[in-house]
Amino acid sequence: MSKVTQISHPLILHKLALIRDKNTGSKDFRELVGEVAMLMAYEVTRDMQLKTVEIDTPICKTKCKMLAGKKVAIVPILRAGLGMVDGMLKLIPAAKVGHIGMYRDEETLQPVEYFCKLPQDIHERDIIVTDPMLATGGSAVDAINALKKRGAKYIRLMCLIGSPEGVRAVQEAHPDVDIYLAQVDEKLNEKGYIVPGLGDAGDRLFGTK
Ligand code: PRP
Ligand code: URA
Repeated sequence: MSKVTQISHPLILHKLALIRDKNTGSKDFRELVGEVAMLMAYEVTRDMQLKTVEIDTPICKTKCKMLAGKKVAIVPILRAGLGMVDGMLKLIPAAKVGHIGMYRDEETLQPVEYFCKLPQDIHERDIIVTDPMLATGGSAVDAINALKKRGAKYIRLMCLIGSPEGVRAVQEAHPDVDIYLAQVDEKLNEKGYIVPGLGDAGDRLFGTK
């Protein structure tokens, strides 16, 4: 069974409260989502492998640690996952970025894939799928299916807010995918929105609707 990690650093919780506030406008919402994604990336990458290298400092030779493991790909689920990419690239600037377009049909709540463009060496990269919201889990489950169909092997999922139902759905469909969240909320409402949540992440990020 996959591991579920809530990253409840005080800075993350503080910024998440501002993100949830309906009076926070798109400009601040975007900046805050980016900041939380950057802070979360620090934890999500905690187990990256290191190798020992020899460096010449201005004083002498010394042995230091540098990243040794697989290269990273960040894969946002469009649209809202895009809001997390720039923050993560501040910490992992060499990461490649793939894109998966998924929208949730508002009647059926079923995800529909409309775009997929990935780095060609996706099968050997450590992949971090980003989406602020894990509601029914349908979009994340299908996005991960789409990745696996194209050869992806090492996948983790990073969301700001999840529902218990969404977490369970991903764990059941993809027991090999670890999940990182800032918070798991109470429930879904009858329209499939997370309660208390933050509303529609894509619309709030991009100022639509
Ligand atoms: C939102 C959100 C997730 C999805 C979560 O996207 O960003 O991708 O819903 O819901 P689920 O877990 O029930 O599938 P939406 O479909 O609204 O598209 P958008 O990002 O383009 O706004
Ligand atoms: N998508 C969102 O953007 N918000 C929710 O609460 C659920 C799905």
